Amino acid sequence: MELDELLACRLDSGHRKVEPCTVVIFGASGDLTARKLIPALYHLHSGKQLPVPFRVLGFARREKADEVWRTELKIALENYSRTKRAEAATWEAFAAGIAYCQGDISDPAAYLRLKKRIDAGDLRLSENLLFYLAVSPSQFAEVVERLHEVGLLRKDGSGPGWQRVVVEKPFGKDFDSARQLNAALIQFIHERQVFRIDHYLGKETVQNILMFRFSNSVFEQIWNRQLVDHVQITVSETLGVGSRGGFYEEAGALRDIVQNHLLQVLALVAMEPPVSLEAEAIRDEKVKLLKSVRLLLPSQVAANVVRGQYTEGPNGMVAYRQEPKVRPGSNVETYVALRLFIDNWRWAGVPFYLRSGKRLALGASEVRVQFRPTPNVLFAAQCGPKLDANAITLRLQPNEGITLRFNGKVPGPTTEIRPVRMHFSYNTEFGAYTPEAYERLLLEAMAGDATLFIRRDEVEAAWTIVDPIREAWDDHPFSETEFYPAGSWGPVAADQLLSVRDHAWRNPQPVE
Ligand code: BG6
Repeated sequence: MELDELLACRLDSGHRKVEPCTVVIFGASGDLTARKLIPALYHLHSGKQLPVPFRVLGFARREKADEVWRTELKIALENYSRTKRAEAATWEAFAAGIAYCQGDISDPAAYLRLKKRIDAGDLRLSENLLFYLAVSPSQFAEVVERLHEVGLLRKDGSGPGWQRVVVEKPFGKDFDSARQLNAALIQFIHERQVFRIDHYLGKETVQNILMFRFSNSVFEQIWNRQLVDHVQITVSETLGVGSRGGFYEEAGALRDIVQNHLLQVLALVAMEPPVSLEAEAIRDEKVKLLKSVRLLLPSQVAANVVRGQYTEGPNGMVAYRQEPKVRPGSNVETYVALRLFIDNWRWAGVPFYLRSGKRLALGASEVRVQFRPTPNVLFAAQCGPKLDANAITLRLQPNEGITLRFNGKVPGPTTEIRPVRMHFSYNTEFGAYTPEAYERLLLEAMAGDATLFIRRDEVEAAWTIVDPIREAWDDHPFSETEFYPAGSWGPVAADQLLSVRDHAWRNPQPVE
């Protein structure tokens, strides 16, 4: 046996136990159900990772026969899933466990009908229930209350089986609304029954941040203010808002990406080692980190945060204000770049630059840890700023991998130095197995492991960071310099955010 094989260490054998259960999806007719949830469950089924027996029950307003819904889901699966084609026999077996229940979220009688359907069948399927709320956040509290009223949702420990609720982001629209929502939910269930999704946490590469940092001794030693000059975290997308204009007008990039995905990645990159691998220990450290982020006063926002909105671009890309369901004079940001400081012992004085935007030049998510330059002697003295500083890039998607960039001699009779790279690619090392984030997250929620979900205080700490920014922007119309052409790397002001400290964005490259 190869040494490498011997040393592979599996931590979760026997740990994750998924009991027979029913997944009830509210918002069954929506995009998320068709594009993400059903394909994820189908892949789990075909990978034999679902419990037996297992059932999916969709709940939505439109009248629909079970068979009609199944057909719709199969078509969506073939359009959107990672494997595209559904294998006939596997789909039939999976679809046999899918049913539909028509009802209006505010109609108490609908919940009685739902209960009747849930109660029919194997006892375990009617006692172990995962409610997935793929509906508007303003409906979360009502659904939970009504489920509780008909006895489908009980506080943990007050009856047989288990019941859990998965809620989609955004969780609230600011600190106050998130707090109210949390308070409304825990009237009927325990915090440990609430699974707040941030699908970034289901990505392999995002989970790997903790392995990379805490299962290696070499990286952790250099992961601090002594050696790190600054950190850049980018979540860039080439797509515009497309058909989601209505949603986006309420959210904007700050609520859609910064408050959740970007701050979650920041927390994992910068947190201290947890005392154990238990969910609460990891989440404690993330909260501690988010609470160490220096809050901006509204008067400091202009100097530390840049917002942008895309205008039209090449190949017929329309301006944000021309997208469907977007107000013609909209002041909603499609781009945000910000500089944050973490006031703790490890990171004091190290700028963390975070940015995200739609309609940018390249779609990629990555973390770049930029190390300090060498002392100004020898090569540095001669090359000046042309001598590149070392960097570690964690490429989260696509072309997932990790790159260490350092300087080397160009072979030949001249003395020429240039950056070279050591690169780990997921595809080369592990093959092209890339399960969707939702597969992992659904499985964890069914197993009751909350590690990859956001805890109440985490979500509140994240709002505390973004709320002052939102407040400073409210009612301020966009100025000319805040617009950027679709297909570019964002507004020019975002470059100045870094150049005032002699830093520059290092844009993700097409293939590392
Ligand atoms: C979602 C946002 O949470 O994440 C979308 O609402 C965004 O606006 C998406 O496009 C990006 O996810 P991914 O997995 O494609 O990086």
